[in-house]
Amino acid sequence: MPAVIVLGAQWGDEGKGKATDQLGQRTDVVVKFNGGNNAGHTVVIDGEKYALHLLPAGILSKGVTPVIGNGVVVDLEVLFEELEAMTSRGVDVSRLLISANAHIIPSYNRLVDRAVEKSLGERQIGTTGRGIGPTYADKMNRIGIRIQDLFDPSILGQKVRSALKSKNLTLTAMGLDPVDPDTVIEELLSYADRVRPMVVDVSLLVNNALDEGKTVLFEGGQATMLDIDHGTYPFVTSSNPTAGGALTGSGVGPTRIDAVVGVAKAYTTRVGEGPFPTELTDEVGRALRQKGGEFGVTTGRPRRCGWFDAVVVRHATRVNGLTDICLTKLDVLTGYETIPVCVAYEVDGVRTEEMPLDQSGFHHAVPVYENLPGWEEDITGVRSFEDLPANARAYVTRLEELSRCAISSIGVGPGREATIVRTPILD
Ligand code: GDP
Ligand code: IMO
Ligand code: MG
Repeated sequence: MPAVIVLGAQWGDEGKGKATDQLGQRTDVVVKFNGGNNAGHTVVIDGEKYALHLLPAGILSKGVTPVIGNGVVVDLEVLFEELEAMTSRGVDVSRLLISANAHIIPSYNRLVDRAVEKSLGERQIGTTGRGIGPTYADKMNRIGIRIQDLFDPSILGQKVRSALKSKNLTLTAMGLDPVDPDTVIEELLSYADRVRPMVVDVSLLVNNALDEGKTVLFEGGQATMLDIDHGTYPFVTSSNPTAGGALTGSGVGPTRIDAVVGVAKAYTTRVGEGPFPTELTDEVGRALRQKGGEFGVTTGRPRRCGWFDAVVVRHATRVNGLTDICLTKLDVLTGYETIPVCVAYEVDGVRTEEMPLDQSGFHHAVPVYENLPGWEEDITGVRSFEDLPANARAYVTRLEELSRCAISSIGVGPGREATIVRTPILD
């Protein structure tokens, strides 16, 4: 299985960092293909916790070449802070490569992100405030700044000046001070010499690696339900965290991909605003948040918690063509007498097994639950499927049926080792 995509099957924070790290140990190249430092991917190795934002989680695996693909948006200040933080912890970051075509998050886009959120008032998205949306908008508007622009001061100057013509109108209309182009240009140029040695043609690199029989892992940020096309628009991020995004975000064709792995929690969480049919707004939800440690890695915000939603994961199976699911955090569900699982929705009194056609249907979807029997035994030390309590096995098997995709591995703790591998994705 030389080319594997790892992506989120729900609303993010499913455990993609851990999944990437695990597969990364049998991988040559790990390419991050979308998003930016809105992501927070956690990896726990020998009890040591690492939180990665912009860097691919694969950077923690020895021998891996970590790559930031063209689909990523890069905040250069954050990049160098993160590289420094990793170096100080003894992580070798010297092999990091970056696409010449990746877009840069200029500091003014953080201002725009926050100002737009403020102006939305009650309709705000609850973004991470990192300038992600405005930077992807600039890319589509063709006023973005790319990594390669750092190496031609005259082109960089022209691009920043022309982008700021419209940006400053937006900023001043929102009551903020206009941004001085020279300050921005100077700041960006200060990174040029440090970035230059890392810059490559990622498409060429990845395709060559595959031609040589190497294993390449494509690491997604965010998740299917946060996808700009397939998620709960407008309560989404501004990229394609789905399988198609792995292709456009790195420059490979669909025929090269061998496996698409969806990471899904054994329950559901969401950060930020937007519809969430199985959300538990009561004490049960608060207890689940505490038990699962559901607080954001990037913003520290409490995550909204709810039961597993099979309609959501079926949708993820379909739009991504999932070949495997990595189910995570099964250990968090230990101790419930029964565990409700959402198998369908009722929308205006009509039962549907699929995502409603329009967003307003999704906002009004009432979950139809099936109650599955729980288990009491501590499962954190279990390493084979057969050793799980019968009810835990039945829970996994039912989720597998409902999700219409094989559950290849099951997470029973945050540590690298705390995984039950049913079918290895990589040998
Ligand atoms: P990501 O954004 O998808 O990489 O996920 P996050 O790192 O934001 O959030 C997942 C959290 O769950 C992290 O704190 C992980 O260490 C933790 N985690 C991952 N898998 C498991 C698991 O199987 N069990 C438990 N208890 N924690 C897990
Ligand atoms: P990982 O990779 C969970 C959410 C934000 C907000 C919406 C838009 O760790 O799973 P943005 O800043 O991207 O414009 O915010 O998307 N969001 C995430 N939620 N996990 C993430 O990343 C997220 N990245 C963005 O909370 O609702
Ligand atoms: Mg996360």
